[in-house]
Amino acid sequence: MSEPKKLYIKTYGCQMNVYDSERMSETLGGQGYVETQSPDDADMILLNTCHIREKAAEKVYSELGRFKGLKAEKPDLKIGVAGCVAQAEGEEIMRRQPLVDLVVGPQSYHRLPEMEAKTRTGAKALDTDFPEEDKFEKLKNRPKAKRGPTAFLTVQEGCDKFCAFCVVPYTRGAEVSRPADRIIREAQDLVERGVREITLLGQNVNAYHGAGANGDMTLAGLIWELNKVDGLERIRFTTSHPNDMSDDLIEAHGTCEKLMPYLHLPVQSGSDRILKRMNRSHTAESYLRLIERIRAARPDIVMSGDFIVGFPEETEEDFQATMDLVEEVKYGYAYSFKYSTRPGTPAAERPQVDPDAADDRLQRLQALITRHQREIQDAMVGRKVKVLFEKSGRLPGQMVGKSEYLHSVHVSDADVAVGELRGVEITASGANSLAGALI
Ligand code: SAH
Ligand code: SF4
Ligand code: F3S
Repeated sequence: MSEPKKLYIKTYGCQMNVYDSERMSETLGGQGYVETQSPDDADMILLNTCHIREKAAEKVYSELGRFKGLKAEKPDLKIGVAGCVAQAEGEEIMRRQPLVDLVVGPQSYHRLPEMEAKTRTGAKALDTDFPEEDKFEKLKNRPKAKRGPTAFLTVQEGCDKFCAFCVVPYTRGAEVSRPADRIIREAQDLVERGVREITLLGQNVNAYHGAGANGDMTLAGLIWELNKVDGLERIRFTTSHPNDMSDDLIEAHGTCEKLMPYLHLPVQSGSDRILKRMNRSHTAESYLRLIERIRAARPDIVMSGDFIVGFPEETEEDFQATMDLVEEVKYGYAYSFKYSTRPGTPAAERPQVDPDAADDRLQRLQALITRHQREIQDAMVGRKVKVLFEKSGRLPGQMVGKSEYLHSVHVSDADVAVGELRGVEITASGANSLAGALI
């Protein structure tokens, strides 16, 4: 038997890219590829890229440049670019970096086997279509390998919101929801392979409206169906848009036992003037009232968010409104970014904020977020949580897992296996994680 060919995949960007990389690896598994952790012994290198900020996109070209030597040594090595940079730049990538053999957009992964075969004839392969066929159905015949306790599952893809700064509607295309029965089948399959916690993914996951047995289903409806899957212990979802936070989803946070008390709900800014220019179609006030309702349903929920500072025309006063909103919400986690100009988006054409002012705002915002994060984490000390153990820690006998609130929890001398869900009393709070003891 011939040696299996080796595939090295490097993943950038969001969780959906992590999910997509798994699917690509499985698809190429059908072509005789096995994954390798190093590019040096690979027969094919795939970069699954992100286009969200300028730096993310530029990283791809510098990474590709580094493969020059490898390709010179090994002419049979094929190099591919997948993901959102592939979608946004298409053929341009091959022009800018001729060592690239293959460019595949996020909607065309299921065509990878044919594309790979084409590169083996010495030709270049490019596919950035938004095809009609269901890529998930084409991808489903894959090897049933054992899995770790947590998994991502894409339920919705694309976005119709067109925030003025964002490339996602262009790189992922229009909003599409997968039919509920296929998602439930995939969840059951994951559970059979060892998964205990599933995070439902979508660029606008709470806009989910996939076909169900009795017409379209909401995300809450889907979560209630998944709640019935035996062996599945935890359900999470990300990323949500404030405008799609429906009543049934808020209520599920109070009543659905497998749905975890954590919600990522990006607001981007606390200034109504800026929110309007961002085309966010919610106000700071409507967002705060929404959080009140979510907290009324689930008082202990940990909130998380995303922020952009230095959006075109943002003044110090606008920025203060963001600080005030953060002060009011107190996020358990929050991600903040300096605005990055994305060609082709409406905000790219507008007057830009002085980069030093934007840097200064980012630092102040991050300091406030870090303080809240730490306060919320410290307040866990003395509380009893449930931990899903995911791996062994750095110290002998130590095990690491996540609480329902998504905090990392370390337990020393823990007589537990990966995949076990156990009660833990929190005893200490460190820089980025908690320590605890089994109850
Ligand atoms: N679908 C998700 C977000 C996807 S992008 C949502 O709607 O929330 C993840 C985060 O990247 C966004 O929430 C935003 O804060 C940030 N982001 C997007 N475009 C950006 C840009 N041009 N510059 C800086 N940050 C950006
Ligand atoms: Fe981008 Fe999210 Fe806005 Fe859609 S809703 S355009 S993905 S930031
Ligand atoms: Fe990046 Fe595309 Fe995800 S731009 S954040 S990889 S949807």
